Amino acid sequence: MVLRSILISPVARYFRTKRMFFEASEYAKQKEKPLMMIGDPCSGNYFHFMSSMFPNSEHGDVTIDLYGCQECNRMDINDIDSWKLFDDDSFVVMETGVLGFSEDIERVITQIKRVSGGDFLSAGGNKGLLWEMLLYKTYSKKLNYTMNPFDSRKHRHYTGRKLGRKEKVKLEF
Ligand SMILES: C[S@@+](CC[C@H](N)C(=O)[O-])C[C@H]1O[C@@H](n2cnc3c(N)ncnc32)[C@H](O)[C@@H]1O
Repeated sequence: MVLRSILISPVARYFRTKRMFFEASEYAKQKEKPLMMIGDPCSGNYFHFMSSMFPNSEHGDVTIDLYGCQECNRMDINDIDSWKLFDDDSFVVMETGVLGFSEDIERVITQIKRVSGGDFLSAGGNKGLLWEMLLYKTYSKKLNYTMNPFDSRKHRHYTGRKLGRKEKVKLEF
């Protein structure tokens, strides 16, 4: 249980993010759309120095992260007005562990659906009973959800759970 929360899940998420970033970049080329990354590759890991030394992805043509580096658009995903900067169906969108900070995930995913025109990939959040019950609080008090990996080419529902092992989330995408 401890091992899953602090080792297996973060390592699996790291390699999944790497693979999915490559896929999302290829997909963006194929769709002839720019790539939007939600999540700064330079920061954000539990051990921050690890992200800058061993980033799990690269920046997108646009990268959104509220506390991101200078290359990022420092936007709050919960500020629905700021999503208006982006046109409908204008990006392939990939997110890496940021949507867990949604205050209302349905409102945020509605914007991602609109901006991506349905082209969305996510490497998902950290998993494990200990993480979902307790340890997430040591990372950030603003983390609300742990979401499952998602690829709009394969999945119809974006799923996950409210942290604290509360209700499950299942959103049609
Ligand atoms: C788990 S990290 C994601 C990037 C990281 N390289 C990774 O994949 O492990 C979570 C990121 O979410 C950002 N973040 C937290 N709250 C946010 C918000 N409300 N809006 C946008 N970004 C937010 C943090 O700055 C942090 O970089």
